[in-house]
Formats: sequence, structure tokens, C-alpha cells
Amino acid sequence: MNDVLLQVRGLEAFYGDAQALFGMDFELAKGELVAVIGANGAGKSTLLKSLTGLVRVPREAVRWKGEPIGGLAPGEIVRKGLAMVPEGRRLFPSLSVEENLLAGSLARRAGPWNLSRLYRMFPILQEKRHQPGTSLSGGQQQMVALGRALMSNPEALLCDELSLGLAPIVIREIYEAMPQITAEGMSVVIVEQDVSLAQRVSRRLYCLQEGRVSLQGECSTLSREQISRAYFGME
Ligand SMILES: Nc1ncnc2c1ncn2[C@@H]1O[C@H](COP(=O)(O)OP(=O)(O)OP(=O)(O)O)[C@@H](O)[C@H]1O
Ligand SMILES: [Mg+2]
Repeated sequence: MNDVLLQVRGLEAFYGDAQALFGMDFELAKGELVAVIGANGAGKSTLLKSLTGLVRVPREAVRWKGEPIGGLAPGEIVRKGLAMVPEGRRLFPSLSVEENLLAGSLARRAGPWNLSRLYRMFPILQEKRHQPGTSLSGGQQQMVALGRALMSNPEALLCDELSLGLAPIVIREIYEAMPQITAEGMSVVIVEQDVSLAQRVSRRLYCLQEGRVSLQGECSTLSREQISRAYFGME
């Protein structure tokens, strides 16, 4: 694959004694939008957390532009150019919308994203910039979480279930922002439980099942039967 940014080889991840990932391989190239799908507990969030230092993994299991980065501190990984929109949004409850966004610029790198560009993309955030972040609707909070990650000007953005709990119209609004996000060649990983949405917006996908990659490939080449077998584990 050309221009590989992230390369994961034989990744194993544990919570205490419980193993969550079993020898996972994963790749992300520059400018790609890749989807990761899978049922509850398949290991999607654990994969993203392993890539961003929130779950400790062996140094050599994750390479960023060829450099081993597994297990580095989360802040160090953000400064290298990998940012995550966590599952459940996780805004700082005591901070306003704008303060939440600015929190994302603590590990700021050079790049196109700043408050004014974010506010152009999601004007409602500018209108509500002085309100507590957690007083916003779920969809607006998701926009803040996405904006906070973009404020670090990442080269790769990892999004954990952007659509969870949101109304279809709000999901559409958020995904319609993707072309603006990828316009300058940013790579994006989206974790999604909505398989047809994942297939629509991405070119390539990985399906996880019980901590393993059960299927991967170009979305256009994968049949619905293949995907549901890989997703649910039915033979
Ligand atoms: N903090 C934790 N402590 C112990 N086990 C955990 C923890 N977080 C996740 N696990 C376990 O790791 C496995 C993978 O979980 P993970 O959260 O990565 O799944 P997921 O695919 O993101 O699921 P979901 O769709 O529900 O978000 C599951 O068996 C889960 O129970
Ligand atoms: Mg999850």
C-alpha cells in the first residue's frame, strides 16, 4: 500500500488478565477513510485506544510512519498527529463549548484547523460557544468532540461511533462534514455499528469479531452475506 501512515501488526491488548485483541493487523494510508465495524464487544474501541496510548500495547505493535509508537503516552501520540474522538464524546462538563474546543489545541500542531474554521463548519457551535458543552444536544456535543480532536490538527483522525444515539438527520449533518475534514489529505478511521453507513462513507473496511479481524477489503468488493457472516459470526 502506498503512503502507509499507520501499520499495526499482531496487536494484542489486555485489560488486566482479560485479552481483548488477538493478533490484529490493520493499516491506514495517507488520505484514506477506513471504517471499522463489528458487534458490541468486538474490540473496536480497544483498537482505537491501543493506537492512541489509552491502552498500553507493545511498542513494536503500532508503527506511525515507520516509527514504533505502541504504548507511548496519549499526549505524545497526539503531538505526532493522531487524534481520537472518543466513544460517548467525553466533553469536560465544567467547560464551555469554546473552552472544550480549545482544550484540543493544547497539543496543537501546525495546520488548517482553528476556531474560525470549525465555526464555519458547524455554525451552531459559534452561536453556543459560551454555553456549557454538556448543555448542548447529543449531536451538537458530538460536533464539539469532533472539533476538539481537529483542533490538534491531526494527520489521522480516529472517530469512535460518531452516530451513536443520534437522530438520522444529525448523523447526516455530521457525516456531510467529512469532505471538509479530508479535503487536505487527512486520514480518517470511523468506528461504526451502522454497517450500511460505514460502507457508504468509506472505501475500505475492517470487520472485527471477538478481538480479531474477521473480514477486510474494499467496500465495493464485499457482499452483504460476507459482511453479515463476519459481523455476527454465523456460518
Ligand atoms: N475497561 C475495561 N475493562 C475490562 N474489559 C474491558 C474494558 N473495556 C472493554 N473491555 C472488554 O474488551 C472487549 C472489547 O471491548 P471494546 O470496548 O473494545 O468493544 P467495542 O467493539 O468497542 O464494543 P461497543 O460496540 O460496545 O463499543 C470486550 O470483551 C469488553 O468487555
Ligand atoms: Mg466501543
